Amino acid sequence: MDVKKAVIPAAGLGTRFLPVTKSMPKEMLPIIDKPVIHYVVEEAIASGIDDIIFITGRNKRSIEDYFDESPELEMHLSQRNKNELLEMVQEISSLADIHYIRQKEPKGLGDAILTAEKHIGDEPFAVLLGDDIITNNKPCTKQLIEKFQYLRQSVLAVEEVPSEKVSSYGIISGNLIDDSLYSLEEIIEKPAISEAPSNIGTIGRYVFTPDIFDCIKKIDIGHGGEVQLTDAIRLLNKTQQVYAYRFTGNRYDTGDKLGYVKAIIDFAVKNEDMEEKIKEHIKCKPFLQSRD
Ligand code: UTP
Repeated sequence: MDVKKAVIPAAGLGTRFLPVTKSMPKEMLPIIDKPVIHYVVEEAIASGIDDIIFITGRNKRSIEDYFDESPELEMHLSQRNKNELLEMVQEISSLADIHYIRQKEPKGLGDAILTAEKHIGDEPFAVLLGDDIITNNKPCTKQLIEKFQYLRQSVLAVEEVPSEKVSSYGIISGNLIDDSLYSLEEIIEKPAISEAPSNIGTIGRYVFTPDIFDCIKKIDIGHGGEVQLTDAIRLLNKTQQVYAYRFTGNRYDTGDKLGYVKAIIDFAVKNEDMEEKIKEHIKCKPFLQSRD
């Protein structure tokens, strides 16, 4: 069973990144010269997705502009024979079939995903959170799709999280089927460390059967007064076994300031043109010895 559609929720308020997110979506923050969300779209496409639904809200217009054609800029570049730049700009607007749905209010991730129900229909689909970048030769979403094709049930990407971060994640417990796959037993949104069933947390990648929509409709408002995807997954797991997969790759939570800075440093160090200079800069900087 092919997974060709993906939902990218990007309607959150980004309060961890205030004040910049007052007027600009966190998904548009640049990692060197590309916004975070561009990397997310590239992962979806490299995983075989050809139909992308962005869930957006107020203040998210720049996401639509970014993936749209830009005739004035294209004409400007073309008249000056800046063909490489022109190609780069044109490529962005032809990456995939992209659709936009507005979430009226940021009522939670579950609510955001539910807005895509009509577009998804009766098909399995991937979800990629718009502020998580995951690097790996085989994209994380592709890894999940392969598991889905074999298991035919919903699969969540998980990783071990440090104990002080457990209360910021959806935390699972499960039975290990092999060294990286769990059949899900329990999932709890942002538990206190004393109540957490493990330190294995869900990150921003999922493949769902369409039955998740009915589960979202049935759940009550959850943690933080939001419609929590985690609660819908727990309900789904009562009628269809859900799986959790320890993916391979490096994940950057760019919705968090520290995760964002780590992403920039790592991407700069991996960038051919910058690698040596950045390494030199970090090595030589006196700020590493003193906070002045
Ligand atoms: P987060 O909880 O990380 O996003 O949601 P947030 O609420 O924007 O961030 P903070 O915690 O206030 O800093 C994960 C993803 O789900 C989307 C966000 O845009 C993000 O990509 N989301 C969240 C929605 O689309 N709608 C919502 O109502 C909530």
